[in-house]
Amino acid sequence: MNIKNIAVIGAGTMGNGIAHAFSQKNFIVYLVDSEQAYLDNAIKNISSNMDRQIKKGLFSTAQKEIYLQSIKPVMDAHNLPESIDLVIEAIIENKSAKIELFNELDKIINPNCIFTSNTSSISITELAKSSRPDKFCGMHFMNPVPIMELVEIIRGYTTSQDTFNTVKEISIQLGKTPVEVYDYPGFVSNRILIPMINEAIFTLHEGVASAVDIDTVMKLGMNHPMGPLELADFIGLDVCLDIMNVLYEGFKDSKYRPCPLLVKMINAGKLGRKSKEGFYKY
Ligand SMILES: NC(=O)c1ccc[n+]([C@@H]2O[C@H](COP(=O)([O-])OP(=O)(O)OC[C@H]3O[C@@H](n4cnc5c(N)ncnc54)[C@H](O)[C@@H]3O)[C@@H](O)[C@H]2O)c1
Repeated sequence: MNIKNIAVIGAGTMGNGIAHAFSQKNFIVYLVDSEQAYLDNAIKNISSNMDRQIKKGLFSTAQKEIYLQSIKPVMDAHNLPESIDLVIEAIIENKSAKIELFNELDKIINPNCIFTSNTSSISITELAKSSRPDKFCGMHFMNPVPIMELVEIIRGYTTSQDTFNTVKEISIQLGKTPVEVYDYPGFVSNRILIPMINEAIFTLHEGVASAVDIDTVMKLGMNHPMGPLELADFIGLDVCLDIMNVLYEGFKDSKYRPCPLLVKMINAGKLGRKSKEGFYKY
């Protein structure tokens, strides 16, 4: 399948990163959001992130203009052209909002178009059921998208081999490294990362070591670029708890129980960087 026109739905952190990455590989990107202000902000962010790449000597200002022109802001999915080949959904992490959106997109977008979701934790099989089950899979990018090389391609129960192959091929064209993952809670990335962060919080909670020392062990001892508590602050403590709960409910296994300190900090409004305080102050 020849994929040229991409619709990215949701122009937040991930949506604007995904649009940015596709614009640099000769795709036409329709970037959709429900509010004009979010679209304006997304284009501003993409432009300043591209300026950073220009400073690194990656491309010229003239090339930047060509990239930006290939991103078309759209204020409602109903205004998308007929010819969309691939949808990448990156709206808020809310199952009913995503199902409602896919139901609607299924009615307005041509039946050959492949639908994907960038969800971090919602079942791809369940989302697929709400629209076109065989032409649906997960496309889980990492933040910041233009820099991070990985894409987890999540096969739902009904994802066809053709759909998987096409999405894998597009990820390679995008310059990413795709990995094949089956649809189980947390996929691979969050199933391993978030329990590690949760264990670091238990280690702090039990007084084994201070936050700085826990992070130092993982940075200097394991060569991780960021310690787990620093990373939790970066991701957002509320997001970490939501994913722990998805793992706990999905596997019904007590090894995924969220640390009580994580819950208490969220109740106190300490969500990490976005609230200016988590395990560290910002
Ligand atoms: N932030 C991350 O590090 C990260 C990493 C991987 C995956 N994800 C996943 O990516 C998705 C988006 O996350 P984010 O951090 O970019 O969120 P965000 O809150 O920054 O952006 C979401 C955007 O979606 C828009 N939106 C909401 N409902 C919409 C609708 N019905 N139609 C069009 N636009 C709509 C909002 O206006 C907002 O601009 C989530 O599913 C999240 O789990 C996030």
